[in-house]
Amino acid sequence: MDAYGPQSPSFDPSIIEYKGFRFLNFKYNEKYIDSLETFETRESDVFVVTYPKSGTVWTQQIVSLICPDEDRTGEELLPNNLRFPWIEFFNEEIDHSSRPSPRFFSSHLPYNLVPNELRKGKGKVIYVSRNPKDVMVSYFHFTYFFKPMGKAKDFSEFMDNFLNGNVPLGSWFDHLRGWYDHRDEFNILFISYEEMIKDLRSVVIKICKFLGKKIENVDIDKIAEEGTFNKMKKNPKANYEWIPADHANKENGSFLRKGTIGDWKNVMTVAQNEKFDQVFQEKMKDLPLKFIWDIN
Ligand code: A3P
Repeated sequence: MDAYGPQSPSFDPSIIEYKGFRFLNFKYNEKYIDSLETFETRESDVFVVTYPKSGTVWTQQIVSLICPDEDRTGEELLPNNLRFPWIEFFNEEIDHSSRPSPRFFSSHLPYNLVPNELRKGKGKVIYVSRNPKDVMVSYFHFTYFFKPMGKAKDFSEFMDNFLNGNVPLGSWFDHLRGWYDHRDEFNILFISYEEMIKDLRSVVIKICKFLGKKIENVDIDKIAEEGTFNKMKKNPKANYEWIPADHANKENGSFLRKGTIGDWKNVMTVAQNEKFDQVFQEKMKDLPLKFIWDIN
């Protein structure tokens, strides 16, 4: 894969290892991470939790459309990144305690590093997962777009790093396993990127029920329409085009890249696919997942 030029420097991911997790060295502050343990959670808090490239910004948009209650507070005027700040990012400009309820958060944290109260069922978690092969391919491309990541050298090396969890935010396998194995500790809804592609309306209904929104008060068709890839691309509050040039190589693409299922087939060789399947089997075989990933 030399689509980004043969001069790509070797992948030097910007990782900080702390508390057994590989943090991205971006808006990282150790004391702040420590403070998350006792972070005061509200019953009305909603956390969108994902491994990177699994549909985070898409789910932000869907939840935003379902919950426009902030009309009263002005929060609806904010772009989604500010309406759904990543809780692990240290940002002195945001005082979470003064944000109006319901507060929304995003997170790539593993289950054991989120606020204790969330783990005791206070607040809600929407966990979005995606076929890991598509996650890996999307992540590979993302390293050329998002500067803090460090560029992948080539796909083959990136795949090895991905399978070993040697990428920012660590192992996809551990992330999913952790959240799934500990699901009973949380008030959690699992959805998948693939379900959203196949039947967004049903996912909207699922999320409404989980958030306690009366379906009759929600315009499901409008939300399903506003949540499509093409609509989001044109929506400045949802398309992440605002990312400044010092953080993004805009000539290498955009946050909303392709938005499809099965792009891995355009990138992975037969041998790479077999290797992936083997690792997947080893690591996930005893996990009774019912998610719809047609990993082949
Ligand atoms: P691709 O790189 O495969 O296109 P995250 O928000 O977790 O970083 O995930 C980003 C991925 O979600 C990207 O995948 C992006 O294009 C895709 N995505 C975002 N909004 C989408 C939408 N409305 N429909 C389909 N895919 C979407």
